[in-house]
Amino acid sequence: MRVLNFGSLNIDYTYTLDHIVAPGETITSQKLEVFPGGKGLNQSVALARAGAPVCHAGQVGPDGEMLLQVCRESGVDVSRVRTVQTRTGNAIIQVSAKGQNSIVLYPGANREQTREQIDQVLADFGPGDLVLLQNEINLVDYIIQEAARRGMTIALNPSPFDERMLACDLGLVDLFLLNEVEGAQITGRQDPEEILAEMAARFPKAQVVLTLGKAGVCWQKGGERLRHGIYRVPVVDTTAAGDTFTGFFLGSLLRQLPVAEALRVASVASSLAVSRKGASSSIPTWEEVQQAKLELQS
Ligand code: RIB
Repeated sequence: MRVLNFGSLNIDYTYTLDHIVAPGETITSQKLEVFPGGKGLNQSVALARAGAPVCHAGQVGPDGEMLLQVCRESGVDVSRVRTVQTRTGNAIIQVSAKGQNSIVLYPGANREQTREQIDQVLADFGPGDLVLLQNEINLVDYIIQEAARRGMTIALNPSPFDERMLACDLGLVDLFLLNEVEGAQITGRQDPEEILAEMAARFPKAQVVLTLGKAGVCWQKGGERLRHGIYRVPVVDTTAAGDTFTGFFLGSLLRQLPVAEALRVASVASSLAVSRKGASSSIPTWEEVQQAKLELQS
């Protein structure tokens, strides 16, 4: 199975601060670093580092070459990424001393995709291929509809969630990867048990992976449920932890690992990402994940 990840590519401007700036407050950052990022790019890099054959589709501006270089170095096929005249998407990321973050996105080229370009990319894919989507590009609803028409398996990480997600035919999605906030936004429920029950009722054939922060992760399909906890690591920067989880979970399934093992591998990988600075720069390799000796948090 080949993976086509239709997603964003961002230049992340990461500011290290004592705390996240409050409304009306001005604070001086201790450090500014520039990292490759974007939920799309991060998930492609994570998939590739997990050993999956991944083709990334999307758009960058003339300033986006360094993002393509990072993808290539990780083994991502970027032949379907177009360079357009609009500037590359970027993110202003504040990272506090506690490792928490706050992100402002400027979509740039990510939101200027056309139906013609999407049709061209999808023409090379079909049954047996998987398309992975997040919500940082435009026309996600169209990609879902066309990918389903071509018989592709559809995995959706509806992040960052907004009303454009509700315009999508979510009934066509085979695998949801979402956190509690996104789960609440889709289902209108707050409690994780209720979110899972509502997802099962509305999307009975779909797999659901619900990440629950410190409470770990829960997977469900039909009546079956599995859980996994989180590992004890020093929290340096949580940016791209969810993207790392997504890439390693899907990568493990593509290696035909059982779901319980895929949850373990993805949890180790995202814990390692949390213990390092940056977005895609923090994503471990498959070997690092296999060699990691981490302790589960009780
Ligand atoms: O998930 C982390 C990513 O969100 C960052 O890399 C940033 O670009 C934003 O898209």
